[in-house]
Amino acid sequence: MGCRGAVLRSLLFVLSSVVASYKVQVPSEPLVAVRGSYAVLCCSYPPMAQPGIPPGLLVTWQRVEDSRVVHSFYYGQNQLSRQSADFKNRTGLYVSELWSGNASLRITDVRAQDAGRYLCTVSDARGTDRAEMKVEYAAYYSEPQLSIEVGLHNTSVRFESDGFPKAEVQWLGPQEQELEHQSEFIYRNGVFYLRTFYVVQDQGVNASLTFRLSNHLLDQLLVRRVHFSQGQGTTNTRKDNSTVTALSCTCVILGLVCAALLFHNYRNHRKHTKSQPGSGHKDVYNLEQYGAE
Ligand SMILES: *[C@@H]1O[C@H](CO)[C@@H](O)[C@H](O)[C@H]1NC(C)=O
Ligand SMILES: *[C@@H]1O[C@H](CO)[C@@H](O)[C@H](O)[C@H]1NC(C)=O
Ligand SMILES: *[C@@H]1O[C@H](CO)[C@@H](O)[C@H](O)[C@H]1NC(C)=O
Ligand SMILES: *[C@@H]1O[C@H](CO)[C@@H](O)[C@H](O)[C@H]1NC(C)=O
Repeated sequence: MGCRGAVLRSLLFVLSSVVASYKVQVPSEPLVAVRGSYAVLCCSYPPMAQPGIPPGLLVTWQRVEDSRVVHSFYYGQNQLSRQSADFKNRTGLYVSELWSGNASLRITDVRAQDAGRYLCTVSDARGTDRAEMKVEYAAYYSEPQLSIEVGLHNTSVRFESDGFPKAEVQWLGPQEQELEHQSEFIYRNGVFYLRTFYVVQDQGVNASLTFRLSNHLLDQLLVRRVHFSQGQGTTNTRKDNSTVTALSCTCVILGLVCAALLFHNYRNHRKHTKSQPGSGHKDVYNLEQYGAE
């Protein structure tokens, strides 16, 4: 998770043995923590000479705005009696790597409220220092759900999805030209619910639309295409790709079911004919007989 650089830097710093000042370091760039996932808040300090839990070491992670304790470690162990309830059961240090200057904090099951500034404080016999870092919160947008409403004069094509933060939404026409559309974002439980739709005005024309959603914080890009093909002179034969796919899937499944039934009955029929030689019914008839048995 890109923390190694920090440790290496502090290692080099110590080795170069310039003015031996005690320094705690955190990333200068904000860390993007993903909803439901875990995040590692990197923090490093000058490494110890040998492995083991460093005696007299104190590590504390706190929220900057209200000094809430996120996690702390002293007297050679985790000290969680004063930990904020918001972080209960969700934090941990890499205790076996503490001696190497690794005071990074792991937060699991990331939530929207975890966004903010964090302060890493380390002190031991050599000195004390602190550094502040920023955590941003993001959530991947879910698979967009397509729905199509066919009206008398127009057709409305809609996508719904949720994620965080607000995504950039585009609807493009067949020549990649941007189309005017309507979108709304409603915030609830750490995500924005997005509803966006485009209204196809002209009836009797085939429409080819591209929906694009991007969540810049996570480099997430979703592109979904919708095609309408419309038979000449009719207004009710519109289909989109999903419908066509769903229909073909249904056909394949029905076919398989029929084949399985026929095969089953064929075997049943053969057993039947073995015990009763001479009966020469067709499979189709056998299907009915089987049901009556
Ligand atoms: C600390 O150790 C953990 C687990 O090995 C690692 O993911 C993290 O990058 C380390 N942090 C630093 C600052 O080296
Ligand atoms: C933390 O974990 C303990 C033991 O697994 C459990 O009893 C407790 O309810 C948990 N607390 C929270 C806030 O999840
Ligand atoms: C679409 O057609 C309906 C009537 O079928 C009309 O009420 C609605 O305003 C139309 N929407 C647009 C955006 O033209
Ligand atoms: C729409 O597409 C269908 C099938 O792809 C085609 O038969 C029909 O001629 C097209 N109609 C128009 C107006 O382009």
